[in-house]
Amino acid sequence: MEHRFGGIWTQRKLDLLRKYLAFYTRALAGRGFTLHYADAFAGTGTQNLRVDPAQGDFLPEEDFHGSVRVALEIDPPFDAYHFNETDSQRIQALENLRQDHPGCDIRVTQLDANAFVPGFCESLGRNDRAVMLLDPYSTELDWNTPGIIGASRKVDLWFLFPISALLRMTPRHGSRIREEWSSAISRLLGNDGWKEALYRPVEQAPMGDLFGDAADAELERLNVRELELWVTTRLREIFSYVADPVTLYNLNRPLFLFYFAVANPSEKAWQLAARVVGDITRAQAKVRNR
Ligand SMILES: C[S@@+](CC[C@H](N)C(=O)[O-])C[C@H]1O[C@@H](n2cnc3c(N)ncnc32)[C@H](O)[C@@H]1O
Repeated sequence: MEHRFGGIWTQRKLDLLRKYLAFYTRALAGRGFTLHYADAFAGTGTQNLRVDPAQGDFLPEEDFHGSVRVALEIDPPFDAYHFNETDSQRIQALENLRQDHPGCDIRVTQLDANAFVPGFCESLGRNDRAVMLLDPYSTELDWNTPGIIGASRKVDLWFLFPISALLRMTPRHGSRIREEWSSAISRLLGNDGWKEALYRPVEQAPMGDLFGDAADAELERLNVRELELWVTTRLREIFSYVADPVTLYNLNRPLFLFYFAVANPSEKAWQLAARVVGDITRAQAKVRNR
């Protein structure tokens, strides 16, 4: 089944995921844990990339696997694969993956990701450990959902935060905020306090105060870097460890912040994961900068 999305940045995302999963199952094999891979926005297992003509030359010629196939090909394998999707045709494609991977315990659910995640986290027992991918198209994810993963203490999370959608919905000038977007922003960011957090008064020229118009000061949104720091700081309140995000760009515009976060409170565990993810992201950046 054709599933058309993404671009060059999709390959960067899957490359980081693949390398981390390969480390994870090797590091935890034979240690008495049951290892789970959970993909809350699973897609179909394949991608038909939407490539901008300006980028076409850079794409390697190969069959592009989506995240669920990347996970299924990891060796040693996970003990169970949890694929969740809302689209019925994509659910069928996920069910069909069992034929190609008869030895794998593949569990397919058709739920909103914000409902799938709490159920999955609740199902984890003492000896269960998991890696989860949250890969929405845009603003489908509620802020509470990563919070539930953070509280699980058992899940390592790869999470795409839709920075481009947030930038689109929060115009630079506060006077242009559109009321119809407010509830989507509040859901994405977890509360209604975002206007105070993301906007500040434009600095007035000293003369402005003299004429008493400081109270009507125009509001201006934080810049992209400040927004990123704000999101990162809030994630760090709910996870034991959060790496600085990898920004995924399309034609020089930031599309997603790709976060890695660890819910496990054991310092030894998150420090090891942090070191590995640091190595993987630095190696990828080096290749890209060549
Ligand atoms: C970006 S694609 C996922 C791509 C996939 N991770 C891959 O690498 O092949 C997002 C998927 O999420 C599904 N989706 C959209 N809204 C959803 C929701 N609220 N809950 C779960 N899945 C959803 C879409 O049908 C789509 O297949």
